[in-house]
Amino acid sequence: MGTKGRAVVEVDLNELIGALRRAYLDELLASHSYWITALVAEGWAGEELSEHFKEEAAEELKHAQRLATRIIELGGNPVVHPKDWEAGATAPWVAPRAKWADANGMVADQIKAEAGAIDAYNALAKMTFGKDPVTHALVTELLADEVRHEEFLENLSAGSAKP
Ligand SMILES: [Fe+2]
Ligand SMILES: [Fe+2]
Repeated sequence: MGTKGRAVVEVDLNELIGALRRAYLDELLASHSYWITALVAEGWAGEELSEHFKEEAAEELKHAQRLATRIIELGGNPVVHPKDWEAGATAPWVAPRAKWADANGMVADQIKAEAGAIDAYNALAKMTFGKDPVTHALVTELLADEVRHEEFLENLSAGSAKP
C-alpha cells in the first residue's frame, strides 16, 4: 500500500499485521483441513458432504489470499514457512478423524473451527472499526462467510441427528 494508505490506519500496525497473519495461517490450515477431509469423506459420507468440504477448501484459500494481500498492503510479510504454519495459527491443526466413517465427528470439528474463525474476525472487526475502514470491510466480509459456514454445518448436523 502507498504511504498515505498506510498513514490513515489508526491501529497499531504491528498488532494489526500480527492478527491478520494469524488469521491468514488459520485460513491456510482450514483450507487444507477441508481439502483433506473432503477426500477422506468421499465415498462413505455421501457426495453432498464431500462436495461441500471441497467448496469450503476453495473458499478458505480465497480468504487466505485476501488476508495476504491486505498484509502486504499494510507493509507486512505474509510469507511463513509451512513448518511454522501451525505454531503461528490461533488453533492447532485438527486432522480428519482416525475413524474414517465418523462423519458427524468431522462436521463437529469443522463447526469448532468455524466458531474460532468467527471469534477471530469479530475481534478484528472491533479492533479496526472506525480506524481502518479497508481492513474492517475485509474482516466483516470474512466474518459473514464464517457465520454462513457455521450455519450450514450446524444445520447439517441437526439434519443428520433426525431419526
Ligand atoms: Fe475462512
Ligand atoms: Fe469457514
